[in-house]
Amino acid sequence: MTSQRPAGTVKLGHHEISRIGYGAMQLEHVDTATATAVLRRAVELGINHVDTASFYGHTTVNQHIRAALHPYADDLVIVSKVGARRVDTPARLALAQRPEQLREQIHLDLKSLDLDQIPVVNLRRADQGPGLIATGDDVVPLDDQVAELIALRNEGLIGAVGLSNVSTEQVKQAIPAGVVCVQNAYSLLDRSSEEQLQLCAANDITWIPYFPLGSAFDLIPSPTEHPVVRDVATRLGATPAAVCLAWILAHDEQTALIPGTRSVSHLEENVRTADVELGEKDLAELDAVVNA
Ligand SMILES: NC(=O)c1ccc[n+]([C@@H]2O[C@H](COP(=O)([O-])OP(=O)(O)OC[C@H]3O[C@@H](n4cnc5c(N)ncnc54)[C@H](OP(=O)(O)O)[C@@H]3O)[C@@H](O)[C@H]2O)c1
Repeated sequence: MTSQRPAGTVKLGHHEISRIGYGAMQLEHVDTATATAVLRRAVELGINHVDTASFYGHTTVNQHIRAALHPYADDLVIVSKVGARRVDTPARLALAQRPEQLREQIHLDLKSLDLDQIPVVNLRRADQGPGLIATGDDVVPLDDQVAELIALRNEGLIGAVGLSNVSTEQVKQAIPAGVVCVQNAYSLLDRSSEEQLQLCAANDITWIPYFPLGSAFDLIPSPTEHPVVRDVATRLGATPAAVCLAWILAHDEQTALIPGTRSVSHLEENVRTADVELGEKDLAELDAVVNA
């Protein structure tokens, strides 16, 4: 049975994913019962795109996904990422960019999610922030990493390759490998990757912004607090989060969202973004908001 997909669908490689998906990173901090409630509600609401990584906890989030959703529906698209590993130091994350490390992380995903193939895997580069910057052994040419991911794709262990945290030049460099999506930080307040977004749009590559609500990190400003967002939300009778997400959807038709939350009520609110209709005046005002 095909359920109604929130905000319709876009293509992700050969998959059709709901334009409103779910980013599971926040589930690292909750127990299995809470994670299960959120994940099952997401699927119930028609979401069939879940973003994760083996380094969200020591595969904690993958284990939550498996506990809540396995055996997986045929149309569920679980997307993971490689390029880092979880460590027990205050930094909690270490880079792991070498090709053999990328392969190890795929095996960790396969095992913890109990899948024979990860549908899509994003290569998370670390040439620039946010997050750790590569030094020493972690400085690896993009082509070497993409070659490893192509090998993994040829072996059937991953279904498709995406990129994350990349420059315009890097997207261009990897297009011949058949990249299906790009995941960069992007929101109403952070348009620093607008050029990459436009390049993806021109090449039929799905744009999947992370931190669409400004993340859970205090140092990153939240677009939901912006006065223009608040005004538009009041005018439309919508929540500020839904206005921020609706603006991203209206900005580019090949975009799919993965807002993160640990709460069922925020999840439901984010799905209601599909009901928000931004008019010309709303869009013009929101377009003009920049984090100058
Ligand atoms: N490729 C990469 O390098 C990369 C990096 C980071 C993240 N990601 C992916 O992107 C996803 C999204 O990023 P994110 O989760 O870090 O940040 P986000 O989606 O921008 O924001 C998450 C924060 O917003 C809050 N929130 C969510 N819905 C809300 C609502 N309706 N009203 C008010 N607050 C709301 C959440 O709090 P509550 O939990 O209280 O709702 C959480 O603190 C992640 O889950 C992860 O899958 C990818």
